[in-house]
This record gives sequence, C-alpha cells and structure tokens, in this order.
Amino acid sequence: MIYTEKVMEIFKNPKHVGELKGANAIGQVGNVVCGDIMKIYLKINDDGIIEDAKFQTFGCTAAIASSSIAIDMIIGKPVTEALKLDNKAIIKELGDLPAQKIHCSMLAKEAIEAAVEDYKKRKARATKRKFKNISDKLSDKKTVKKLEKSEERASKSAAKPDIMAKTARLASKLGAKSKDAEKSTVKDDSKKKASKA
Ligand code: FES
Repeated sequence: MIYTEKVMEIFKNPKHVGELKGANAIGQVGNVVCGDIMKIYLKINDDGIIEDAKFQTFGCTAAIASSSIAIDMIIGKPVTEALKLDNKAIIKELGDLPAQKIHCSMLAKEAIEAAVEDYKKRKARATKRKFKNISDKLSDKKTVKKLEKSEERASKSAAKPDIMAKTARLASKLGAKSKDAEKSTVKDDSKKKASKA
C-alpha cells in the first residue's frame, strides 16, 4: 500500500495528539469494520469558534494522518464551518489516500460531528440549569412575598383581640360608671324621702 509523503510525514509526527484540558466538546466514534477508534476534544468559545482541539486515535496510518490534518483544518474556525469539513477535503489536504483507506478519513469527520453534538447538549443543559436557577430565585421571591403577606395578615388579626380587649375594658368602665350613677340616684331619692318624713 502506498501512502503519499505527506501522509507518512504526518503519521510519524502527528500534531494535536492527546487529551485537551478544558475541552467543552468531546466526540468519540469507532469504525465497526476494523475496530479503530477516534476521540476528539474541542474547546469552543462563546462566539462558537474552535479555539483549540486535540485527538486520540487508536487506528491505522490513514486514520492518524486524517485526524491530525482534520484538527489542523478546524482550529480557529467556527463550529458551523467545521461541520462542513468532509473527508474529500481531508484526503485532498493529505495529497491522497489509497482507495481501501478512504473510509479511515471518515472517522475524523464523524468524530468532529459527535463532538459538536456533545457541545450542543452541554450548552442546552447549561441553559436549562441557568433558567432553573432564575426560576428558583423568582419562586423564592414569591415565597418571601407570600410570607410577608401572611405575616401582615397575622399581625392584623393579632391586633384585633387587643382592640376587642380595649373595647371590653372600655365597655366595662362605662358599665361601672352608669351603675355608680344609678346608685347615687337611689341614694339621692332615699335622702329626699327621709327629709320629707
Ligand atoms: S483501517 Fe481502521 S480506520 Fe483505517
């Protein structure tokens, strides 16, 4: 099997190999026919640009060369553009690949797609968490308001017995006064009767 010089050169000195710390997108794919595996790590910034990328490939010469060159081709590119990368472009960049090795270049393309899919899922989860936190805070505010209202109601109803007690005290005082007035009227009447007699 004849590989181009470029394929051999990259295979001997592949770039971007290993695990990428701080990666926020990871995709792993395998070739069911040969059992080769490729794992790709992407670090995508908030603008959707691939700032950095690395790969780990357990595979043949063509798979390793394809992975390395594919990573080279997507670093600094927007995710949307990285998704457009097809194996034809990879093969072109490698100079060529033997016909029976063309499927190996598919691994890189599929791994990028899997990583972007992972990125989308992570982003969706992060957005969900963010909304949950906001709604938790909002419901907390609602709870606080409810508590404040119920406390206000409780203090109002607690004030009522005071008013009632005051009213009762006032009423009993008034009652006492009218009884005293009655008594003094009775006393005056009896005094009048005694003086007449
Ligand atoms: S033979 Fe498996 S990827 Fe090349």
